[in-house]
Amino acid sequence: KPVLLADYRPPDFLIDSVHLDIVLAPSKTRVTSKLTVRRNPDSEATGKVPLRLDGELLKLESIALDGRALKPSSYRVDDTSLTILAPPKEPFTLEIVTLVNPKGNTALQGIYLSRGVYCSQCEAQGFRRITYFLDRPDVLAEYTVRLEADIETAPILLANGNPVERGTLSGGERHYAIWHDPHPKPSYLFAIVGGSLSPVASTFTTQSGREVDLRIYVERGKESRAHWAMESLKRAMRWDEVKFGREYDLDVFNIVAVSDFNMGAMENKGLNIFNDRLILASPQTATDSNYESIESVVAHEYFHNWTGNRITCRDWFQLCLKEGLTVYRDQEFSADLRSATVQRISDVRQLKALQFPEDQGPLAHPVRPESYVEINNFYTPTVYEKGAEVVRMIHTIVGPEKFRAGMDLYFERHDGQAVTIEDFIACFADVSGADFTQFHRWYSQSGTPELVCDLSYDRRKKSAELTVHQVLKPSPGKAKKQPYFIPISMALLGENGQEMDLEVEGGIKIRDGVMAVSERTTSFKFKGVSSRPVPSLLRGFSAPVTVTMSISDQDLAFLMHHDSDLFNRWQSSNAYATRSIIGLLDAKRPNAMVAAKSSKLADALRYALRDSELDDSYKAELLKLPSVADVAREKASRVDHAGIFDAHRLFSRTVGEKLADDLESLYANASRDKKFSPDAKNAGRRALRNAALTLLTARGASEDFARVEAHYRKASNMTDACHALFLIAGVDAPGRLDILEDFFERWKDDHLVIDMWFAAQAQSPRPSVLDEVKALCRHPLFKITTPNKVRALIGTYALGNPLQFNRADGAGYDFLADKVLEIDQLNPQVAARMLGAFRSYRALEPGRKGLARAALKRVAAAPISRDCHEIVSRMLED
Ligand code: ARG
Ligand code: ZN
Repeated sequence: KPVLLADYRPPDFLIDSVHLDIVLAPSKTRVTSKLTVRRNPDSEATGKVPLRLDGELLKLESIALDGRALKPSSYRVDDTSLTILAPPKEPFTLEIVTLVNPKGNTALQGIYLSRGVYCSQCEAQGFRRITYFLDRPDVLAEYTVRLEADIETAPILLANGNPVERGTLSGGERHYAIWHDPHPKPSYLFAIVGGSLSPVASTFTTQSGREVDLRIYVERGKESRAHWAMESLKRAMRWDEVKFGREYDLDVFNIVAVSDFNMGAMENKGLNIFNDRLILASPQTATDSNYESIESVVAHEYFHNWTGNRITCRDWFQLCLKEGLTVYRDQEFSADLRSATVQRISDVRQLKALQFPEDQGPLAHPVRPESYVEINNFYTPTVYEKGAEVVRMIHTIVGPEKFRAGMDLYFERHDGQAVTIEDFIACFADVSGADFTQFHRWYSQSGTPELVCDLSYDRRKKSAELTVHQVLKPSPGKAKKQPYFIPISMALLGENGQEMDLEVEGGIKIRDGVMAVSERTTSFKFKGVSSRPVPSLLRGFSAPVTVTMSISDQDLAFLMHHDSDLFNRWQSSNAYATRSIIGLLDAKRPNAMVAAKSSKLADALRYALRDSELDDSYKAELLKLPSVADVAREKASRVDHAGIFDAHRLFSRTVGEKLADDLESLYANASRDKKFSPDAKNAGRRALRNAALTLLTARGASEDFARVEAHYRKASNMTDACHALFLIAGVDAPGRLDILEDFFERWKDDHLVIDMWFAAQAQSPRPSVLDEVKALCRHPLFKITTPNKVRALIGTYALGNPLQFNRADGAGYDFLADKVLEIDQLNPQVAARMLGAFRSYRALEPGRKGLARAALKRVAAAPISRDCHEIVSRMLED
């Protein structure tokens, strides 16, 4: 019973206003809802139309229409709905009282308790677990919310919008707060919080002079860890004004950090709720990468205020309308605040690591899916990250000015509406005059396009020809595909790395240096090419595609040294390392081969390390060799992780040896922190030093492990400590257990830091890791009901330890299947995510593939949630 995009119909009824009275209590929270309802003039239905409200896991106490209790014969209730059989034609009010159970809510959708704090998560369809409602994003209503609770357990009471009133109730043990949100919104943006929390407060004055009270609520005692999030919020608010002319629109902006959360964070209007790992940071407890994620996710959720909240989605198929666009915006924000090149590298790394495997496996779906069984399964890297790439291509195609004009038009034309991708694209077509008909295929066709490129050079005619062929392999549900419109940023480089100034024929010229292909095969002819050119294609990763081209090691090495596009320079060195490792897999004489291959990479890295013009953070990216998972993905078929791991180790060790002198001196001379600062420059310095440490340690000598131990002991911040912890946890070095124990003793009372301890152990490639992970599942600090714990331990093992998860005996697959079945009983959304570890199982060598399939079949045969059922059936489909 999938839901289809093609079946979209406007709602038969609209709800203009909602008054909620919520009396918070652990297992019996009473929700009284007053709705003003009217027929939708745009409804396609005629005559007598029943009103069907969504509702799940609710206990209905009473229902009245226009003040009169409804007779049981005039409505019907089942597991998922409440239907009023013959509602009046004229507008009417409904008053519905339901009971919900926050304490028993382990699925963490609707209202639940997280470490004693009442909170809510409604996206996508959690509001129906709070009260009966038209729980769909195209029904926009104005909300007034009254919350009531014990003063003692819930002194803080928050809801969307602006505070209106608060007071104590007779007896003095209970109190209430009233909130009003003037902006009509869909139910998925509704939120409440009640608990004993401490605020960090600040203010922000918008460009038009509105003074906004900012508050971030955290667990008592953690206030000092919320400052970075607060600074990030203010930077985001300013940036959106400067870059997009978008101002905040309420008197208050609240953020609450909670410990139990299915995803990262949620953009509820005026009341963002966050997974606390994306708010809390101090030098002692958070790594630079934690700081970076906090900055970008705080910004992401803030940016949703315009891209998502003021303009929302007509239906859930349009999810990328708000997510792809908002990811694009947060990426641009980070690029502006930090190194744009390094930001691009890390975004592309993530896209390739998470989205490409999804797009090339059984879970492939278009950026805008056309059918779903459980919408929570579509909060994916494809909708988010590929969705952002599609927006980025629009920017590349129309250019920065027209892009801004298109966004301005979008905000102006659709403010207050629930719209579609077509509406969004029309804005850019209107301001630029460009035709986006073909471009639209990016939204409807799944799979990663492959560009097979070939460059030939005619020395006599001084001409070159580049042919680009789009290979579009079939994806689930899409056997035949049409060619895409693909912007390709490119240059041909001359002997000294200079960009040749060329006349081009063929293809579509977007602007200097940016061509587009639109046919299955396109040729570009270049004239006046005075020497044999080396192509630098897809600069800055101008489209989410793979490029296949036969290029010699010599030319690749040239690009590793000289490409003036720093993104492509990194890309070349990454591609070179990857193909070298794959080459080792079936080499006759791997030792001779690795010597030659690693020299070229070491030379290029040395050349970059000695270049004082390059940022530390960029150099750190160069030093990070492709991971085992990266190599496995590139290999694409008959993947044997054990073989890849060995080749990877041999290659890294050799590069480490060749580069040892430079790395040693870099490590020894890099200045240490006097006072910790999380800014990009200082983080870059730490990243470079830590990357050097990793490469040195790849040599595997005992003095290398001693250095890691010393790195841990001398660390003055979590970035360094955690880096050493992960390195040492990965090897059977003498200091391993001591360090793990030291870390545990130091941090056992800090639930966020302890997640790093779980993760460090779960990522270890040592053969005993599965037994250790199983034992850790019984550890007193491990809680299967807390998503962060599940992700840290089970998630890291299944998704971050390709060697040991993909054990040849299949024990990793069996373990995951068992855990998924266990978690599914509590939290289907998290269980279904864990199944993602199987997304590339079809690329495995036959033995592993059979074992993975057997584990999936076992899950499929058990009584499982709709969430898991949808995932396993897509995986097992032929
Ligand atoms: N809209 C949130 C974000 O991207 C994600 C919330 C998704 N939640 C869910 N249960 N599917 O910013
Ligand atoms: Zn989002």
